[in-house]
Amino acid sequence: MRKLAAGNWKMNGTRAGLAEVQALLAAQPDPACEMLLCPPATLIAAMAALTQGSRLQVGAQDCHARASGAHTGDLSAAMLADAGASHVILGHSERRADHGETDAQVRTKAEAAIATGLVAIVCLGETEAERDAGQTLEVIGAQLDGSVPEDATAANLVIAYEPVWAIGTGRTPTIAQIAEVHGFLRARLTARIGAEAAGVRLLYGGSVKPGNAAEIFAVPDVDGALVGGASLKAADFAPIVAAL
Ligand code: G3H
Repeated sequence: MRKLAAGNWKMNGTRAGLAEVQALLAAQPDPACEMLLCPPATLIAAMAALTQGSRLQVGAQDCHARASGAHTGDLSAAMLADAGASHVILGHSERRADHGETDAQVRTKAEAAIATGLVAIVCLGETEAERDAGQTLEVIGAQLDGSVPEDATAANLVIAYEPVWAIGTGRTPTIAQIAEVHGFLRARLTARIGAEAAGVRLLYGGSVKPGNAAEIFAVPDVDGALVGGASLKAADFAPIVAAL
């Protein structure tokens, strides 16, 4: 399977930030892995124009479950695809926390994204309190069951495991903890969608940096990364891409 290095710019970046995209393209003309950046929606069209014909794909950070209608401020999967997005991140823990998104809502969004032809990157992860209580596998198993459409395939689904306590904190789980969760996710996904699960990319996210990327990418069932802060600068993201 082809690994995936995905960057999530979150609510960062204006048109001036596109200079970093040009620098990334100059640094990584032919990476071994797939490469994706998910900027704020305001930059999708401009980034897609800039990356046309390159190996760098462009994605979004959320979509509405409906195709159109009276939903002020929201964007449909078709609108994102029209702007040039090929992927959409769904159910990121920041959206679950800030907007109260539930597993069922994430699943309906993923269904809409897939029906539109986008790849859905569904995010899962436990809080620190849940890990301390020994509930990690129970929590992410329930999130996976609730968030992943039953007809998802290796071509239209990516899963990102992001422990909430590792996001933007500089802290990462141990290699053994990442291996345990990713092995669990592969098995649980197989129970949900069958043999297709073998080809679904399972990304790790949470304080991935140039200095720890190679070690994390060597873990079995880690098929790439969802990178936040270190995706904003080409000087940080390029070596992460190169480590895959
Ligand atoms: O979507 C990305 C993750 O939330 C990771 O963010 O790399 O800044 O810890 P981070």
